[in-house]
Amino acid sequence: MTSTATPPAPTPERVLIFDTTLRDGEQCPGATMTFEEKIQVAELLDQMGVDIIEAGYPAASNGDFEAVSEIARRTERAIVAGLARTAPNDIDRAAAAVRGARRGRVHTFVSTSPVHMKYKLQKSPDEVLAMSIASVERARNLIDDVEWSAEDGTRTELDFLCRCVEGVIKAGATTINIPDTVGYTTPDEYRALFRAVRERVPNSDKAIFSVHCHNDLGMAVANSLAGVEGGARQVECTINGIGERAGNAALEEIVMALRVRGDAYPYDTGIESTLLTRASKLVASATSFPVQYNKAIVGRNAFAHESGIHQDGMLKHTQTYEIMTPATVGVSKTSLVMGKHSGRAAFRSKLEEMGHRLSDNQLQDVFGRFKDLCDRKKHVYDEDIEALVDENVAEAHNRIRLVSLTVIAGTRGPQRATLRLDIDGRAATEEADGNGPVDAVFNAIKALVPHEAALELYQVHAVTEGTDAQAEVSVRLGAEGRSVTARGADPDTLVASAKAYLGALNKLLAGGTRLHAQHAAE
Ligand code: KIV
Ligand code: ZN
Repeated sequence: MTSTATPPAPTPERVLIFDTTLRDGEQCPGATMTFEEKIQVAELLDQMGVDIIEAGYPAASNGDFEAVSEIARRTERAIVAGLARTAPNDIDRAAAAVRGARRGRVHTFVSTSPVHMKYKLQKSPDEVLAMSIASVERARNLIDDVEWSAEDGTRTELDFLCRCVEGVIKAGATTINIPDTVGYTTPDEYRALFRAVRERVPNSDKAIFSVHCHNDLGMAVANSLAGVEGGARQVECTINGIGERAGNAALEEIVMALRVRGDAYPYDTGIESTLLTRASKLVASATSFPVQYNKAIVGRNAFAHESGIHQDGMLKHTQTYEIMTPATVGVSKTSLVMGKHSGRAAFRSKLEEMGHRLSDNQLQDVFGRFKDLCDRKKHVYDEDIEALVDENVAEAHNRIRLVSLTVIAGTRGPQRATLRLDIDGRAATEEADGNGPVDAVFNAIKALVPHEAALELYQVHAVTEGTDAQAEVSVRLGAEGRSVTARGADPDTLVASAKAYLGALNKLLAGGTRLHAQHAAE
């Protein structure tokens, strides 16, 4: 007799989440993070359940090596990976950097596409195959967990890709990554590529296959999911989708697509989704890259319902316009925080509720700033408090600090700024004119801290609503081939601008960039 009972749904297959925010994300122009910021991001990724944290490229600099080593030592659950080219020194540095990890991985890569081999590497396919095998063998002599990536894999000839994959698996690679380095593939193509490689390569069952997609045509997430359908069981992605050019596939979008559309994608991840919003805010603050308002999952409008028709539907039933609840991704409703009569204990517990654990000294500082803000602003919201915490974290190691700023602005120019800074413990004051008040402020900074860094971006947002909202300014400066971005928040846009500009100068100094031969802070 045949049973009419519905068979139990198959257990979803596990897909590993490999986060490369600290490597592919951090290497994009302007997203540089400090050592402390990298540690904080790694801690949250580990807590969130990321399976593999790619912590950096250890051979790039001593700073990168130290950050990867420290993350390896501190990480409690995730595998910690270090990137390496095929060069022996790269492999040795990566293996050394992850040695202190509970489980470390060396991730070695080489270009395999005709255009990259001919113009970038100037090597023949046979040479590239030999380099790949030698790099994996060298890494396997140092560590058990080795990933090999075929850079520009989606523009690689299939036969050659299969030869390489077979060779590196034989040499000991345990994960095979086929990146869409230039964001060129389509979902159908990428799915078929994984199916073909897994079918053709005789030892393909000995390794886990991985997707790694860039977003040049806006298809990184769709391509990654198609790769999973083609048999990949590891997804490489970044928080907020930051990364080279148009970025990488966004972790939060992959995780929520798999969760919300489990019917179409029967795969599971180990990610605690309620931490996604916190991770997004932390990365946005550490990199000073603002999150697009309408960004899926973590944009500030992702759960906002503005039109009357939508609001009416939402009031009748939330499922009319919401496919997931804000709570599943950790969004709490914007809430009015305590006012100026709130005490320190209530403030500390509010911060903890928002996911911030501050030391006593930090709490003292942020609480002082909060009280000042209450004097200047009628309503203080969670977002305002976030901005104060960001400011405290950013300023902890600053050599240049803002003491005071007065600006004369209006229709009758020239606009004039009087600025007082503390530079390495010494106070200095300067007055400067400008073509507009922001220009005057930046000219005053330039007079006090002479530098050749170029202003690459200046952007103003309101942190909350209303004319007394805090302005949040982002400034990106470039010098000696490095770009850094910093943010500053204040109810006064000009003060926020000065804080952001000084923040970027401090980041350049912290990264070892010389601003100018004889500037006051040297
Ligand atoms: O996009 C890419 O190809 C990469 C590799 C180094 C994995 O980031
Ligand atoms: Zn990449």
